[in-house]
Amino acid sequence: MTSTSQTPGSGARAAHPEHLGHVIFITAAAAMGGFLFGYDSAVINGAVEAIRDRYGIGSGTLAEVIAIALIGCAIGAATAGRIADRIGRIRCMRIASVLFAISAVGSALPFALWDLAFWRIIGGFAIGMASVIGPAYIAEVSPAAYRGRLGSFQQAAIVIGIAISQLVNFGILQLADGKQRGTIGGLEAWQWMLGVMVVPALLYGLLSFAIPESPRYLISVGKSERAKEILAEVEGKEVDLDARVAEIQTAMHREHKSTFKDLLGSRFGFLPIVWVGIGLSVFQQLVGINVAFYYSATLWQSVGIDPTASFFWSFTTSIVNIIGTVIAMVLVDRVGRKPLALAGSTGMAIALACEAWAFSADLINGKLPTTQGVVALVAAHVFVLFFALSWGVVVWVFLGEMFPNKIRAAALGVAASAQWIANWAITASFPSLADWNLSGTYIIYTCFAVLSIPFVLKFVKETKGKALEEMG
Ligand code: GLC
Repeated sequence: MTSTSQTPGSGARAAHPEHLGHVIFITAAAAMGGFLFGYDSAVINGAVEAIRDRYGIGSGTLAEVIAIALIGCAIGAATAGRIADRIGRIRCMRIASVLFAISAVGSALPFALWDLAFWRIIGGFAIGMASVIGPAYIAEVSPAAYRGRLGSFQQAAIVIGIAISQLVNFGILQLADGKQRGTIGGLEAWQWMLGVMVVPALLYGLLSFAIPESPRYLISVGKSERAKEILAEVEGKEVDLDARVAEIQTAMHREHKSTFKDLLGSRFGFLPIVWVGIGLSVFQQLVGINVAFYYSATLWQSVGIDPTASFFWSFTTSIVNIIGTVIAMVLVDRVGRKPLALAGSTGMAIALACEAWAFSADLINGKLPTTQGVVALVAAHVFVLFFALSWGVVVWVFLGEMFPNKIRAAALGVAASAQWIANWAITASFPSLADWNLSGTYIIYTCFAVLSIPFVLKFVKETKGKALEEMG
């Protein structure tokens, strides 16, 4: 705790419910970036097989084309912080929106495989940017008392994006008589799947004109008067605005001028707090969450469940993901981030261990025995539920608020790109690991869930209810 926590108007006391509606609108608009993030990263599932068929490529090349988007994400996340510090959060959102739209149209109408991959990288870059700008901006405009819940809008938007992309893909598939390469109005179904994203992309850009710039960014570029107007909008006119600006300025001056170098500490490369952010990001991915979203259909088919049922279970998983996220949104400011993360790790470890046990059974006629089959399906849903009500929300909330003001955008960028690299590592390795041993793969994910418990206990500090100026 620093002295700024004693300043009137800071922290949890600055919450004025009459402004909440406005803050919720701002947050929801900014979280459209999260929606596009979920939509764009999951939409490819519906198109994968069609792309393989259209270009006559093997699994290796296909995996490269798919995974390359995740590398674009890592680069987008790494650079967004600096762009946001230079030109502001709102302009950054507009750039991401244009890139999303261009990539949707480009990848829907590719000339060849190379430019499809290129457009996916551009889309990935926009996802990476959105994954950084959303949480940073939301944390910066939210009153402390609601910041966790508002921060969780980002994850809510991601999970809704994932679920909607599956529904839209399914709808398009029906229009094309169930064929991914069936045509509708001269284009193949998979092209529509990729192209439809242009609609939310443009909406995101339009909404950015309806929301204010972050007060903390404005103060950092010397526009304190404008910052006061916005603080009055989100925290209320009753708040001592001069004191709030002074408080934010003091916090910014206490920290020296920020460049990438400022993320570096003397002993361990990055500053310890940056390592904690990276650790949270990486553990969130190493438990194998995206195997559940990118590969679940393949997974269920590999243990003998038919394709239609696999689609159904993939969809129910994404609904459970939404339910868990809503539970987390209710709990995150009440019980705090750390207890949720710990409960989530425990639940995930148990569920993953059950999956590992179920997959260790020998297949009979290509199918798991009944008991193991039921355990695997139930455990997969329980795993997603525990992820959603803990690490899914908590990590994005933490990343938005745990860093000191001056390094926030840059540090978030580094942590988010680490997350994309970990996502890529899990996504790219799953097919070979599953070929090696499905049960063994789940034992590895179980170990990561278990290891995340001492990591949180030892290195992560609770941020619930603290003013952003108190972090660091
Ligand atoms: C989190 C993860 C993302 C994952 C999603 C699933 O947002 O960062 O990788 O796809 O949760 O709900």
